[in-house]
Amino acid sequence: MQLPSLDSILPFEPGILSVALLLSCVAVFVYRWKPARYLPAQSSVRDTSISEKNKLKEREWGEWPPVTFSYPPVTPTSNPVNLKPIPYRPFRWGAYHVTMGIRDMPWDEWIETDYQMQSYYYIKKHRIATRGTNVVQILPDRPGVVKSASQGAIELVHELADYLSKRYPDAFTVSRNASGDISSVAIIPVNAKLDIPPALATQGSLKLRQVSIEEAEHAMKVSALLVQDDLALMVEGTDGRYYFQGGAICVPGFWRMRDKIGLPLEDIHIQGHVPQYETRLHNSMDRYFKRMPVEKPIIRNNYFFQVIPPEDIRHPLNAAAQSSAKPIIENDSTVDPEELAWSTTTNGSEETFNHGHPITPDVRPTVAAENLRLRTERQTLRRLPLSGAIVFGIRTYLFPVEELAKEPGIPARMASAMRSWPEDVRKYKGNGLYEKVMLEYLDKAAKEQLEVGGEELMKDTGKGYPF
Ligand code: HEM
Repeated sequence: MQLPSLDSILPFEPGILSVALLLSCVAVFVYRWKPARYLPAQSSVRDTSISEKNKLKEREWGEWPPVTFSYPPVTPTSNPVNLKPIPYRPFRWGAYHVTMGIRDMPWDEWIETDYQMQSYYYIKKHRIATRGTNVVQILPDRPGVVKSASQGAIELVHELADYLSKRYPDAFTVSRNASGDISSVAIIPVNAKLDIPPALATQGSLKLRQVSIEEAEHAMKVSALLVQDDLALMVEGTDGRYYFQGGAICVPGFWRMRDKIGLPLEDIHIQGHVPQYETRLHNSMDRYFKRMPVEKPIIRNNYFFQVIPPEDIRHPLNAAAQSSAKPIIENDSTVDPEELAWSTTTNGSEETFNHGHPITPDVRPTVAAENLRLRTERQTLRRLPLSGAIVFGIRTYLFPVEELAKEPGIPARMASAMRSWPEDVRKYKGNGLYEKVMLEYLDKAAKEQLEVGGEELMKDTGKGYPF
């Protein structure tokens, strides 16, 4: 049978049909479009307006008028299970200077994640289950002093879920509700789906909803499990100082959230005896936090050394924890054999830790090159536009010193950095515990490199700070 031609069954010309179709698509799009506070990543960036910026300048301390801001476009990258940890080597040749040491954070690089994401996830899950509010906590409002970090916690989990699903689409996917807000986030490599509380404001509105402490602590737990970082929320007080009002500090290694929560920045650092804080850091940090804009997140790196348990008593599931296999979670040493979360070998028991006192292990550890680790943090600071809370992300990396010693120029640079520490820095970094073994080992490795590679190799890796 011959089919009738299209022209013969249409009451109008086919060209008119195409135009009609196009017009109806445009009409549907216009009907469904709502002005979005957060524009999709592909659209142009909508920044805080001049009048909003003026409002911020005129605000009373402790009052933050929510501002319009959309996260700039995010470039997707590889599946983190195929990514190696970024090899930070943030120690320098020659004299040691205490400075803020900050640089701009590229928006693409807010959160770094890699193949160790699974082991960090299990360690954090175990810490949350066994330590409760010692590792995740949101403080309530303290009238006349500082507000709660509860709104910041909700805003943060939405920002993280959105960012991660765009940056690492193979590892994170989000589900959205009818109004387009994220309602849950899936972490594919660990086969977990986590529900998140409703957004802080409906799309297109700057009116923030009230948030309970329970909801905020739930949001904070989800944030903790999403990323390898620890997360602190800093809220401006009525005195203009920034208070540690909430966070998820699951893997700090050398300090405990319970000793610092609720304190302003200066007390956190003074009570921890951070070297030269009062002379070199206090004023510039104070100024920096008060003025920190939404549009300019920053990064800083630091480093320490950590002694971990010797190989023969380290838990045999170490290999599983470092691979994609799901470790059997029995106790701290099973899930975290290298003591990422709390360095018992260096600090003694977490429960009896003497905050503000020099490092004193319960038992003096046996130190050998194989149980020394470079512990280095990549810290990020970002002001959230709606709540005004400042998010402090602390991503910790542990690298075996034996591995570092094989890298061209690194053992010589590391030994030079250690020898340049002023006495207060040396004490703060617990050098007395590992100094002799470490320096002998590094000097030997540097000498071997010198014999093979010559003087040039000893000077620089050529990549520049912090590598
Ligand atoms: C620009 C911002 C900041 C700078 C320049 C800074 C600087 C420092 C420095 C120099 C240290 C010594 C260890 C190291 O070299 O990193 C330190 C330690 C520390 N900082 Fe900060 N910090 C900043 C932000 C924060 C924030 C927002 C928190 C919030 C919780 C914080 C909490 C701590 C803690 C808990 C320690 C360890 C103290 C201890 O050993 O008891 N820092 N900081």
